[in-house]
Amino acid sequence: MEKIAVIGAGMMGQGIAEVFAAKGYPVAIYDCRIEALAQTREKARAGFKLLGMDENAAENISTRNSLEECVRDANIVFECAVENLEVKQNLFVEMARYTGGNCILASNTSVIPITRIGEKVADGYRVLGTHWWNPPALIPLVEVVQTERTDIKMIESCIDLLKRAGKVAVHVKRDVAGFVANRMQHALWREAISIVEHGICDAATVDLCVKNSFGMRLPVLAPLENADLVGLDLTLAIHNTILSEIESSPNPSPYLIDKVNKGELGMKTGKGFYDNWTPETSQAVRTRLSSYLKKVVLEK
Ligand SMILES: NC(=O)c1ccc[n+]([C@@H]2O[C@H](COP(=O)([O-])OP(=O)(O)OC[C@H]3O[C@@H](n4cnc5c(N)ncnc54)[C@H](O)[C@@H]3O)[C@@H](O)[C@H]2O)c1
Repeated sequence: MEKIAVIGAGMMGQGIAEVFAAKGYPVAIYDCRIEALAQTREKARAGFKLLGMDENAAENISTRNSLEECVRDANIVFECAVENLEVKQNLFVEMARYTGGNCILASNTSVIPITRIGEKVADGYRVLGTHWWNPPALIPLVEVVQTERTDIKMIESCIDLLKRAGKVAVHVKRDVAGFVANRMQHALWREAISIVEHGICDAATVDLCVKNSFGMRLPVLAPLENADLVGLDLTLAIHNTILSEIESSPNPSPYLIDKVNKGELGMKTGKGFYDNWTPETSQAVRTRLSSYLKKVVLEK
């Protein structure tokens, strides 16, 4: 079994460590804030309990006091530190220094190009992206991102490992912003915001439309299957009419910018696209999401 190292014991690092620990892989985890490691095993136990899994799997996770100790014997390192280019570049130099030439070095960045993160590493053939989704234990997808320097064998063994750990791992062949899934997600968000901005309907109506139409079908009928189902001739006819009408701005919406400038940041400030968020209504949304995800994953 491969030895897994995780750098950064925040939300994503903890979750990724749990995914491998649950499958019996030995996981070493390091964080520059020692206090972030104090609860790692307890959190893993609680997470496993919540999912009805063996709590003792938390014993597969060991905390480490230095990066060198954490990565020294690893076959793969998942970097899950803060979303900051300089921090990640420095970490990758260190990760490369303390690992063997066959060790895969993976960043879990949300949006920073993997090419930039790995540019100070001499052996860029083993640098790649693994874009996990939150929460890692429940969302299946991991996008494995290849740069121009990444060796395809590293991509293949990373995908193989992730599949054995129970994930849906896909190969993203170019290091583009947003990889695959976030590009599509934010194309939808841009249009949703534009619809509200232009007074076509309000935010609640946008969300109601999604939840009660194509949103219901998406888990079983994704866009390109759906295009084949309705026919590409119909798809072309629709695009001929609609594409010139829908939002195509390369910049964030002025409506969104205005809301941010006014401090309307969503649940954390009580108001965003919706008014009157309270701690209770915000928590209800989070609970609704985790209950739904648990049901979907555990019933699979
Ligand atoms: N939160 C998400 O939904 C999500 C999803 C996909 C990807 N990501 C990405 O994953 C990464 C981690 O995100 P998160 O939400 O877990 O953040 P987080 O803030 O919860 O955790 C980051 C951790 O990294 C540690 N850290 C910072 N600098 C470090 C260093 N030099 N060495 C070791 N540890 C260091 C911090 O102490 C902290 O514990 C980010 O790049 C983020 O963009 C986040």
